[in-house]
Amino acid sequence: MLNFATQIAREAGNLLVQRLGVARITSKGDINLVTEADIAAENLIIERIRSHYPQHGILAEESGEAILVGGKRSEWKWIIDPLDGTTNYAHGYPCFCVSIALEHAGALTLGVVYDPMRDEMFAAERGQGATLNDRKIRVSTVDDLNCAMLCTGFPYNVRERPDFAREFAKFTMEAQAVRRDGSAALDLAYVACGRFDGFWEDGLNPWDIAAGALLISEARGKITNFKDEPLDIYNEQVLASNGLIHDVMMGILNRG
Ligand code: IPD
Ligand code: CA
Ligand code: CA
Repeated sequence: MLNFATQIAREAGNLLVQRLGVARITSKGDINLVTEADIAAENLIIERIRSHYPQHGILAEESGEAILVGGKRSEWKWIIDPLDGTTNYAHGYPCFCVSIALEHAGALTLGVVYDPMRDEMFAAERGQGATLNDRKIRVSTVDDLNCAMLCTGFPYNVRERPDFAREFAKFTMEAQAVRRDGSAALDLAYVACGRFDGFWEDGLNPWDIAAGALLISEARGKITNFKDEPLDIYNEQVLASNGLIHDVMMGILNRG
């Protein structure tokens, strides 16, 4: 099934690249966009899943939840973000990805994050480790926040939530560097392979988090909410790290 997931992520990623700069853009809210490419990539992924695994449920960003199959709730659920980083994509900023995960009986079993601009395929299967283009990856070994490169994101309701700016300022003063790249799934994949040492965001959706979360845990990192409780992908908060700077990051998030 992991091969199937990487194959459809690659197909969808290629579609995104083909339409980069030409896809029509519409608005879902004040600052929330959707492009023709989001929809086309999602349709492609759903079509492939429907024909290979017609009994499986699907939760996809643009189409919502369709988890009832033949009147029954499936134990299998594909969780899809066909284009994570839509604002980047709409501006031609080459930082976006396709994110696909599979849940079985409530547990994440596989996750893939594909960056078609760099042809980087991040993949993980529960208990089998995580890879980048078929090579094993591990989180970084940085144990001092002062030497850490962090990343964060702002959800679309950021204008009503000034706490984001406060957190950003606090981490900027204490870490070596803080980035805001605009693709949460890719940010998590970068923590998994050690490019970032930590990531936090409040206001995420399950399709932003699911694949990246499995990458982090399979790459021996740590992922929780802001209260050090186990991650729940249906609950918007994510603190992900190499494990070594987790407590100090949590302390900063909870400091007044
Ligand atoms: C968004 C990106 C962004 C994050 C937002 C997400 P989208 O997803 O992951 O980095 O900060 O919270 O909604 O809309 O580009 O798929
Ligand atoms: Ca997203
Ligand atoms: Ca999206």
